[in-house]
Amino acid sequence: MGPDPKMAKLDWLETFELGLPEIDDDHREMLAIMKSVEAAADADDFDLCADLLDKLIEFSTAHFKREEDLLEKAEYPYLGIHKEYHSGLIARADSVKNICKEIKSRKNFKECCSEMFQFLVDDVVAGDLKFKSFLEEKGLVQRR
Ligand SMILES: [Fe+2]
Ligand SMILES: [Fe+2]
Repeated sequence: MGPDPKMAKLDWLETFELGLPEIDDDHREMLAIMKSVEAAADADDFDLCADLLDKLIEFSTAHFKREEDLLEKAEYPYLGIHKEYHSGLIARADSVKNICKEIKSRKNFKECCSEMFQFLVDDVVAGDLKFKSFLEEKGLVQRR
């Protein structure tokens, strides 16, 4: 079996940082939960997978809230758009999550999860880059 491009993407994300420790820590935790879902699926422990998927959505929801609070304090002008983007991601991830939880075969489960993870990973790789330069200009994050 060749390398899984989606897993490679998760690995790459571990090195990805915005320069805001509290946000970067949250993103790393989201990835850590995704990896534990993959590990539980490899062990065919689908009960654990279901619990971890719930935990992932719960944690991501809390992360989005923390990020929104931070952006509000920084007076980010596009906060409303970013909030809508977050709730869209959660709604999509949550509906795919419920489909994944019904699947009890390893390969199909992992495919379903990859699709779900994409919505949450999108926050890190696409969504949050939009406020990175704003925070840099305000001197709130270190330029790299
Ligand atoms: Fe984020
Ligand atoms: Fe975000």
